[in-house]
Amino acid sequence: MAEVDLAALRHNVDVVAGAVGPEVGLLAVVKADAYGHGALACARACERKVWGFAVSLVEEGVELRRGGIEAPIVVLGSFYGLSHRDVVAYRLTPVVGDEADLERFARAAEELGAGRLGFHLKIDTGMSRLGVRPERLPAFLQALARAPGTELTGLCTHLADADGEDAAPTRAQLALFDRCKTELERAGHRPTITHVANSAGTVRFPDARFDLVRPGLALYGYAPERSAYPGLVPVMSLKSRVVALRELPAGTRVSYGGLYRAASDARIATVPIGYADGYSRRLTGQAEALVGGVRCKIAGAVTMDMSLVDVTAAPCALGDEVVLMGAQGASRITAEDLARWSGTIPWEIFCGISKRVPRVYVGERP
Ligand SMILES: Cc1ncc(COP(=O)(O)O)c(C=O)c1O
Repeated sequence: MAEVDLAALRHNVDVVAGAVGPEVGLLAVVKADAYGHGALACARACERKVWGFAVSLVEEGVELRRGGIEAPIVVLGSFYGLSHRDVVAYRLTPVVGDEADLERFARAAEELGAGRLGFHLKIDTGMSRLGVRPERLPAFLQALARAPGTELTGLCTHLADADGEDAAPTRAQLALFDRCKTELERAGHRPTITHVANSAGTVRFPDARFDLVRPGLALYGYAPERSAYPGLVPVMSLKSRVVALRELPAGTRVSYGGLYRAASDARIATVPIGYADGYSRRLTGQAEALVGGVRCKIAGAVTMDMSLVDVTAAPCALGDEVVLMGAQGASRITAEDLARWSGTIPWEIFCGISKRVPRVYVGERP
């Protein structure tokens, strides 16, 4: 199971809010099912503490609205396919970086009698992924003049290297963003909401704070590299139980391909979590798990549904708790550990925990 501590989430929201001060709001990033933590549960837990929520897909925004979230929901993804009417009907705020989308949103708003649709303009200042390129800004503003059913209420960009060693690319992005903002103002547009900073940008580049910051990872308890967030608490723990235990003589091959052979007589625990759960096969030969408060090696290949743990040195009985990520006694395995062992980043560790892992919520009541 993935245990999600909503009290820790609320605490992290307070940590980020404390870092930016009362003048800056939080646009909490809950896309990708709140990085695997469960978007609706997380949004409900912190709705009163944040300005609003950012999702990637229209469907993600619809899920939150249907679940009763009333705060603003900003759709970051900015690829809308055929879902312009859903954006309007569910009172979502689209991020737009494409001229044709403006027209489609204007039509959807008119057809649904929804009045003017507020949108946030995304400027591509260096991510080269989505958004209006600065040189296309005049053309975009002309398209805006032809779409009176829409209103430019927000302005944003995305930092491509806020946790990088070199601050220069981020400074260049911020300078370009400022120039675009000035150009918009000269053309008579004064969006009331500007947001730029992800978790790293929020603390490393105070100039990137504007009206709102847009943190994801920090809310889930982890600071990106080079980003000082004293006091964050991990929100998710990944836990399982011992379902089989066997005593194996020295030299016995363990799991597919016999990649692990016990050097001496060993006790191996079978744990029902594998790569189909998001416990990556790339952890093979690298990862550790906590059993009886002891750090134990994952023995041999991680399989689709199960992993094997060498518990020779740990007190261990059938049914005992195994912590793959999280704390047990005085020890802790972090998402950073899992990321390092499997050659990825903590973001991917969270997003990779699959649907079949039950999310169990604690700390629901404030
Ligand atoms: C547009 C945008 N803003 C903000 C974030 C949040 O980033 P982080 O989790 O590093 O805070 C993301 C995450 O991928 C993003 O794509």
